[in-house]
Amino acid sequence: MSDAYLKAAATRRTNYVLANKSSVPDNKIEAIVQACVLHNPSTFNTQSGRAVIVTGAAHAKLWKLVSESQLKTLEQGPRRTLVESRLKAFAGAYGSIMFFEDQAVIDAITVKMPMFTKQFPTWSSNSAGMLQVAVWTALSAEGLGASLQHNGAYSDELVADIHKTFSLPTTWTSTAIMPFGDPAAPPAEKTFGPIEERVKFIKE
Ligand SMILES: Cc1cc2nc3c(=O)[nH]c(=O)nc-3n(C[C@H](O)[C@H](O)[C@H](O)COP(=O)(O)O)c2cc1C
Repeated sequence: MSDAYLKAAATRRTNYVLANKSSVPDNKIEAIVQACVLHNPSTFNTQSGRAVIVTGAAHAKLWKLVSESQLKTLEQGPRRTLVESRLKAFAGAYGSIMFFEDQAVIDAITVKMPMFTKQFPTWSSNSAGMLQVAVWTALSAEGLGASLQHNGAYSDELVADIHKTFSLPTTWTSTAIMPFGDPAAPPAEKTFGPIEERVKFIKE
């Protein structure tokens, strides 16, 4: 029963080489993201995860904002050249999924359950990661390539620009951006450390 899931988990990879097209129709992509958001676990079922899918001009607008924000802080040199080429590749993908946690939801549960005040930020980011990997895996299972980026919170100015440009509530805190599209090349080779050292099975 778990074989299909595990196969999909192994297929999910970081792929930076993406085409500006998608062999998966938009309504299927939307259905995947909706299902992942709907079923994602969240602390005390607060359902704090949010996702925004952008394609076409909206996708271009997002990466223009991110690129301008990030590049203006980088001097000429190898680091800037690398970042520039990465940003160009993200902008050249078919679309992006912006992931958020609604801070208003986290604040509300914190007021209700103050004994977990210290834990809620961790639990919120755990839930965000679960949502990201669920979407990433599902897109991969459909044959799409994707990667996980964190430029959405690069500066306060960028955060404000993203909220304003896409008319999003300011309580939505960026947790990641996932550029996606048809893979234009296979992902880079991945190496694995010994699994026996990373998983223990204790039988008593
Ligand atoms: C919490 C987290 C943050 C990550 N942030 C980035 C990132 O900002 N940029 C990036 O290119 N990859 C990012 N990655 C992807 C990892 O580099 C990648 O998953 C790892 O190298 C293993 O490769 P794989 O995704 O192909 O399995 C992130 C992954 C995780 C789990």
